[in-house]
Amino acid sequence: MQFAFNLSADRKLSLQNEVFERIRTMILDGQLRPGDSLPATRIMSDQLQVSRNTISLAYERLRSEGYLETRRSVGTFVSSQLPEAGLNAKLGSASAAPERTQSSFAGAIRPVRAQSLMNPHHDRLMVDFWVGRPDPRSFPTKLWSHLIAKRLLYAGANLTDYRQPWGQLELRQEIAKHLRPARGIIADPDDIMIIGGCQDGLNLVGRLLLRPGTPAVVERPCYQGAAYLFESLHATLFPVPVDAWGLNTMQLPDVSNAVVYVTPSHHYPLGVTLSLERRLELLTWASRTQSYVVEDDYDSDFRFEGSPITALKGLDRFDRVIYLGTFSKCMGAGLRLGYAVVPTAMREAARNMKALMNNGQPWLEQAAMADFMKSGHYVSHLRRIRRSYMAKRECLLAALSEHFGSCTVLGDPAGMHLAWHLPESLPLASKIEAAALKEGVGVYTPTSGCSTYLGEEGDSDRVLVMGFSSLTEKEIKLGIGRLAASIHGLNS
Ligand SMILES: Cc1ncc(COP(=O)(O)O)c(C=O)c1O
Repeated sequence: MQFAFNLSADRKLSLQNEVFERIRTMILDGQLRPGDSLPATRIMSDQLQVSRNTISLAYERLRSEGYLETRRSVGTFVSSQLPEAGLNAKLGSASAAPERTQSSFAGAIRPVRAQSLMNPHHDRLMVDFWVGRPDPRSFPTKLWSHLIAKRLLYAGANLTDYRQPWGQLELRQEIAKHLRPARGIIADPDDIMIIGGCQDGLNLVGRLLLRPGTPAVVERPCYQGAAYLFESLHATLFPVPVDAWGLNTMQLPDVSNAVVYVTPSHHYPLGVTLSLERRLELLTWASRTQSYVVEDDYDSDFRFEGSPITALKGLDRFDRVIYLGTFSKCMGAGLRLGYAVVPTAMREAARNMKALMNNGQPWLEQAAMADFMKSGHYVSHLRRIRRSYMAKRECLLAALSEHFGSCTVLGDPAGMHLAWHLPESLPLASKIEAAALKEGVGVYTPTSGCSTYLGEEGDSDRVLVMGFSSLTEKEIKLGIGRLAASIHGLNS
């Protein structure tokens, strides 16, 4: 038997490896079928002009990996144990395996939409009012590197062993201490889980509670990361409108065993705060309908007016709220660190699910964060950035009123962005977004800014969302000046 290959002149592999690879590929591609015989090593070495030893070693490796078998005194054959259906028989008969084309896989891949957290235009913008980005200058780099280095020195087996998937006890205890005064939540550290930010928490909740068709009540507009995740799990979405007092609880659907997703401290993207009356209505509804509420408290550390509002979780007497907090906004999204406070009844299942998902978050960052909190640096860091974001917010409000007169703005008492409701005299938000982009300024309609109306857009094109936290005051003034010029250009 002659073999239909020669060795390549431009050799990247050793001779032995090349023979091994060529024969292996012929088997996997179906050019050689189970039971086919191979030439004796001597004949093969003559044909390929390589030493017999090279061929013997290649055969030996193919044999040890299960591709070939030797029948004593008869010869060497392609292993008869290989399942023919697993091989791609290009020369095959009617019984051959299907061709490995794209279409044979296409049915198995579900289409998934993702939240757009990275602005595709960022690099070509002079001033970008993109939402939810901390100021990179605010990260406590020096202290953080010191804390990391110190923990590394004594890390021992912490870096090599698996740890509890629900997170380090020290950090959970610090979070419990923080949540009580900051958010009015009295949490048992055992009900706290360290997660990879709110998105990881949403996944955890989704995997625990959502089946195809489970009702998922979401805000309209809704943060894309939640809506698209629930959609990917085949939940049935019920968008409920948000007005100046937050989610309109009068319009909650007539369903039970649902999951409700809310951003009550600072609605994303419109910035409104869920009123106390509606908070209580929502909790009563959840208890009556045996539903769970997911409270995404992504930027609640920043409240500039009045005292911090007690979280829904802090008001929850029915143990129906899953609270999600994150270090992405007050420290940085690159840490991928956050926390969930789960109902006690959910504790065990949530811990097990976290293990199935990813075996927990990195030990080193958890340890450094625990030290950062324990030493009191976290509270002073929050105080410092809160002051700085408040000054930026005031600068933005002043610049808007300087160029546009009195503006209807929502969401400015808290958070890292605000929502400007455009007066009738100005063009549509999408037109302004496009014109500003040409001037090197990024401002966003709610749908460009990582939220979705789930196909019920309504009057969404009359709102611009504007983040201010990552900009300097100089940039904010420059940006609003250029925005005004671009709108003027549209009107003239
Ligand atoms: C409303 C909301 N929830 C969650 C997140 C994501 O947070 P994390 O980085 O903690 O996953 C964001 C990010 O911008 C957000 O706006």
